[in-house]
Amino acid sequence: MNEQIVILDFGSQYTQVIARRIRECSVYSVILPFHTPVEEIRKLRPSGIILSGGPSSVYSAKAPLPDKGIFQLGIPILGICYGVQLLAHFLGGKVEKGLKREYGKGTLSVQDPSCDLFRKLPGTLQVWNSHGDKLTRLPKGFVAVATTANSDFAAIESRERRFYGLQFHPEVAHTPKGKEILSNFVHGVCGCGKNWTMRNYVDQAVDEIRRQVGSEKVILGLSGGVDSSVAAALIHKAVGDQLTCIFVNNGLLRANEADVVREVFGRNFKLRLQYEDSTRLFLGRLKKVTDPERKRKIIGRTFIEVFQAATRRAGKAKFLAQGTLYPDVIESVPIAGNPAALIKSHHNVGGLPKNMKFKLVEPLRCLFKDEVRSLGLELGLPKEIVYRQPFPGPGLAVRVLGEVTPARCEILRNADTIVVEEMKRTGLYYKTWQCFAVLLPVRSVGVMGDERTYDYTIAVRAVESQDGMTADWVRLPYDLLETLSSRITNEVKGVNRVVFDITSKPPGTIEWE
Ligand code: XMP
Repeated sequence: MNEQIVILDFGSQYTQVIARRIRECSVYSVILPFHTPVEEIRKLRPSGIILSGGPSSVYSAKAPLPDKGIFQLGIPILGICYGVQLLAHFLGGKVEKGLKREYGKGTLSVQDPSCDLFRKLPGTLQVWNSHGDKLTRLPKGFVAVATTANSDFAAIESRERRFYGLQFHPEVAHTPKGKEILSNFVHGVCGCGKNWTMRNYVDQAVDEIRRQVGSEKVILGLSGGVDSSVAAALIHKAVGDQLTCIFVNNGLLRANEADVVREVFGRNFKLRLQYEDSTRLFLGRLKKVTDPERKRKIIGRTFIEVFQAATRRAGKAKFLAQGTLYPDVIESVPIAGNPAALIKSHHNVGGLPKNMKFKLVEPLRCLFKDEVRSLGLELGLPKEIVYRQPFPGPGLAVRVLGEVTPARCEILRNADTIVVEEMKRTGLYYKTWQCFAVLLPVRSVGVMGDERTYDYTIAVRAVESQDGMTADWVRLPYDLLETLSSRITNEVKGVNRVVFDITSKPPGTIEWE
């Protein structure tokens, strides 16, 4: 079993960030609900426990509290924000409502540089605060090791028990040395090595997949996106030809997309790739359909039908592989006022009906997205796939506004290719969450040479985002916009006007439909 740190989640919007930071220190971490019984935690043999922040007050009647047995495990504990207040609550300190909420940047003065958390760090640090309650009396056996203008107990320790508390958030980027503090905790205090790397994970995952699958067959729906691609490469490494990947061309893919998948997986990886060309079926069913929701439903249903028929053709298989990631499986903690609980991920069109009787293989279910990308590189997948921008399941159908016809898809594909080419040429493509072209169902008058034109409009969309839930439009340089406009109107037949979308999400969405 990996050395690991258990993070108990009290509903902070940053809990996943804590887990990622720990893993960036090459130490495995898991997130568990705050009420996890101590027996379950003990079974994992963690090297340390982190108590996350959270929106509650320890003195409220409904305060989420951990199993108090965790304080008897004899392993280090770090309480962050609400977590430090829990230490006080359980170990004999006092928490009170602060006179004012402390929110934003603050300056931390380290009073005791011999504290393990601040080893090799400067005496003054910028930190990020976000709390209303504060510690007013230290728990028994604790001393203060750092202060801020607003708090005498900004960092506290009980060196003997190896319990630590931070009133600020070391996990967020606004605490620039925060990762070093967490690294000092996991390496210095908990004594963890640096064993969590994707190189090590490949071997571990290959063993696990072999153990799970035995000599049975596995089917995987390959979309060409990062997750299914990395899952395919990993499972193929583990069980070779026992894996069959089904790739459905729904006629709504971008230029060359199907070719890249066939080239990379069919020819380079030499895995069994079952290519389903269902272009005519999908486009046939989309004829004359203009309502966005109907388009999505038709595509979703047709995909399931095609995929089910394809699995039957692929031969009897016991397992279905999916590229499920860690954020999809973390049990979310329902705590009032917790914004993390409100955020729901987009449902994929590829969601399969429950009556498909497969056992699941999900080799990415303990990984975060950035780990999946490094795993992909480790497995030899090209950058083009590993850093591919998100692409919606319904494909170009939600970017061809109005009726989806082969001719309109072709116009959009040609314009989109130019957007991607130019974004790559200027080095902006891999820094952008998504950039693409949208074909508007609007025709307008233009003039080309001596002739009047009456053609379509292309909208260029480029957004920055962390997770697709909110987004800001990217301030593309004017020179680039000029090139895009001139290339698209000159090179794409049927387009005489280009506009740039300057809407953020909210109020807009990233896709136009
Ligand atoms: P919106 O348009 O809702 O999109 O702001 C947020 C993110 O989700 C992607 N998207 C989808 N992804 N299936 C998917 O797998 C879908 O049906 C779907 N619709 C939108 C979109 O590209 C953006 O990254």
